[in-house]
Amino acid sequence: MSALQGLARAPAMVRSLHYESVAKMYSSAFFYEQGGAYETWQLAQTSARLRAAPHHALVDLGGGQGRFAQLLHARCALRADVLCVDPSEAMLREAEGRPGVRVRRQDAAGFAARADEAYDRVLLKEIVHHLGAAERRAMYADLHARLPPGGLVVTATRPHEPPYPFFEAASDVWRANQPEQQVLAEEQESAGFRVACDTATFPVAIELERWKKMVSDRFWSTFADFTPEELAAGVDEIEESYGGGEGGEVTFDEQLVFIVAEKA
Ligand SMILES: C[S@@+](CC[C@H](N)C(=O)[O-])C[C@H]1O[C@@H](n2cnc3c(N)ncnc32)[C@H](O)[C@@H]1O
Repeated sequence: MSALQGLARAPAMVRSLHYESVAKMYSSAFFYEQGGAYETWQLAQTSARLRAAPHHALVDLGGGQGRFAQLLHARCALRADVLCVDPSEAMLREAEGRPGVRVRRQDAAGFAARADEAYDRVLLKEIVHHLGAAERRAMYADLHARLPPGGLVVTATRPHEPPYPFFEAASDVWRANQPEQQVLAEEQESAGFRVACDTATFPVAIELERWKKMVSDRFWSTFADFTPEELAAGVDEIEESYGGGEGGEVTFDEQLVFIVAEKA
């Protein structure tokens, strides 16, 4: 079975196994490095769209290791701890005990259906590609029902067309899982939200060797279902396609797609 078929057939299981196995080295990948220029940029972009005031209650749905929950708690001077919700025990283990963070083990749609938590702001950062269309629709409708007027859901995701120096089969897996921005926006409008979309861009240069190591380590779930042989061939393809780059680096424009949904 190819990686593409595998992901299409059993996304939830593949993803949950993926995060159990990558949790230990999650923050060694460029995109999750702590304290660097990319994280600082991502935090500024995200907090500008969340518009959280100190009295607001924030939920980070699919919050993983709680790093952004901790950073947002401090940056927005929130009085209440940020609730970091994630189905992965291994990811949440790293979130437990962080200042300004409390954790709950649950998937996003299950949490959204609960009536026992009140909140004003919800962040979904880098998780919507893990949810099927029906799950997303139900989740956004439930979040709309639970938020007060003026409440916001900020979905931070990536474009359907990958700007990354992937091998071809990885780009196919990416496209199969990454919804178009317009699809996500329409789902949230149907749930009753007023929706605004924009894309923020950050130019990236990474040493080719580091990029190849990140891919070999399956740093994104895009790579989760390739066999070791397929992955090794993919890394060779990256070397062939991008190996002539200046200074031994790969360069690309990182694009974060933001969908800000407001309850009137
Ligand atoms: C790429 S990580 C992003 C984590 C965090 N938001 C961040 O930006 O670092 C994706 C996260 O989504 C979580 N996830 C996967 N399926 C999910 C679901 N159905 N509901 C909520 N979170 C999910 C994974 O466990 C993982 O922690």
